[in-house]
Amino acid sequence: MIERDKIEEIKRQTDIVALIGQYVPLKKMGRNYRGLCPFHSEKNPSFYVSPEKAIYYCFGCKKGGNAINFLMEYEKLDFPDAIKRLAKNLGIEIDTTRGLRYKEIYEVNEEACQFYTECLSKDIGRRGQDYLTRRKLSLDKLGDFRLGYAPASGGLVAYMRQKGFSVERLQKAGLISTSREIFRDRLMFPIFNLSGRVIGFGGRGIDDYIQPKYLNSPETPIFKKGDGLYGLYQSKERARVKGEVILVEGYFDLLSIYQHGFDSICAPLGTSLTERQAMLLARFVKKVLILFDGDLSGIKAALRAIGLLIDAQVDVHVVLLPDNSDPDSYINAHGATALRALLGKATDFFHFYKSVVKVESLEQEIALIKDLIQIIARIQDPIRYDRYLKYVSRVFGIEIATIEKEMGKTSPAPEKIPRDPKVSQEEKLMAMILIGYEHFSLVKKYLHPNDFAEEGIKRLFKRLIKEQNFDIADLSDVVDEHLREKLLSIIMRGEPVSRESILEAIRTYKGRVEKARLMQKINEAAKRGDEEARQLLNRELDALKRELLNIHVESARKTENVRSE
Ligand code: UTP
Ligand code: MN
Repeated sequence: MIERDKIEEIKRQTDIVALIGQYVPLKKMGRNYRGLCPFHSEKNPSFYVSPEKAIYYCFGCKKGGNAINFLMEYEKLDFPDAIKRLAKNLGIEIDTTRGLRYKEIYEVNEEACQFYTECLSKDIGRRGQDYLTRRKLSLDKLGDFRLGYAPASGGLVAYMRQKGFSVERLQKAGLISTSREIFRDRLMFPIFNLSGRVIGFGGRGIDDYIQPKYLNSPETPIFKKGDGLYGLYQSKERARVKGEVILVEGYFDLLSIYQHGFDSICAPLGTSLTERQAMLLARFVKKVLILFDGDLSGIKAALRAIGLLIDAQVDVHVVLLPDNSDPDSYINAHGATALRALLGKATDFFHFYKSVVKVESLEQEIALIKDLIQIIARIQDPIRYDRYLKYVSRVFGIEIATIEKEMGKTSPAPEKIPRDPKVSQEEKLMAMILIGYEHFSLVKKYLHPNDFAEEGIKRLFKRLIKEQNFDIADLSDVVDEHLREKLLSIIMRGEPVSRESILEAIRTYKGRVEKARLMQKINEAAKRGDEEARQLLNRELDALKRELLNIHVESARKTENVRSE
């Protein structure tokens, strides 16, 4: 592990507003800063950063955490790399070769990747090599992709065992299911995260009878199909420089045109493009060139992707390939120059829409116009918005005022920050404890884990007792995602917490909740006629009252001390 003290030091020194401000324009709003959420598309800002609490939280999509969480989420880094980035900003030296959160899965994946690449280079990989030749992929141009071959006869388990990896770990990484190797007789495409670590695999069956044609690793804690993009790791530097990226449908398309010198390309991971992937692309480029098959499913996929990409505020251009070919078959048949020429003729989404949507009646035309207006309404850049607005007005001969009226009618109502509907007393108190964490030694005196009934809150409280230097955003190993989001949202809304206010909150909490709990038990005992229990409970009630008084005294005493200073 990276030393804890160092992590604490880095977190303490990091200015979360300055950090996030590099990526998201933020405006001061009272105590907090506010901006448009970088993790989901929205028109009205519901993304908040609190400099005092050193956290961010989006009331819209509920993503939140500390500076490290932000970098992990935004830059898709893993924990050590996020720390390294923060350390670098501060000029602190740090060793991050160890300390990965899901280290065991990363290690298995890395080793498995080596196994598959080795197989491809040896006799056992003959079928893989022949297949590559048949499909005109040349390994020497695709070194960065670390392609491999999973033999029909398997061998991963034995290889991994020899390296000291248990079957359980292979299972965790999604490489075997009920001790059977998942990938057999497949060309293997390791999938990398933005730090270059292998997070999963895609595998193409070598023969067409192998079903399904493409198989992806199942989701694991480090592999989520809708989150990442194939090829982005290899392309990201070029993509940043060029400001644009080509989006293709599949692995083969990508590799096939990459080896011909196209170097800023990515593809979704066996699903259609997701909002998260669109937002991810928007961090690297201003423009996406969609290069999909010219068949109906390609057109549908392109129309879907356009909406998501426009929402992510990137400029979208589309190229459809002729004759139902895909980028791979096209470049093999016509060459790189022809493809380049085709890409040069990419149309903007407006013309693409107009050219592919069938208009044979007035009603169909109206539907098309409405679709286009809906998309244009989502453009935030005022100049681009204006251009498209005027364009649509001119092309279809519709008054601008009419178009804007249509937009107003259908665009979603401004989002308001929702009040959390159900926040329990315990959750409220826990949020206060976390905000006023510096007073925890005092809190500990008056609260016991058993004062909480909710399992998650109880567990968290125990952890706070056990641990020093707890980070209020670092809740994910202790509580489930739902409770984490809820607590972060209360924390973000919460006022600063003083010694007196936390003591007062504890007193109120215990007074209300504990008293009610005891009173109910006393009533039950009385009903049962259990005099002994009743007396015992009454004594507990007295003790509680005394304790409440103590808390009050403690709080008053501190206040006096402050006053007399
Ligand atoms: P295609 O069926 O168009 O395959 O699927 P392709 O990319 O042209 O592949 P080749 O040329 O036949 O080898 C496009 C993408 O959809 C996903 C894969 O990511 C594929 O690259 N896919 C397809 C799957 O995940 N599973 C499948 O069974 C098929
Ligand atoms: Mn293909």
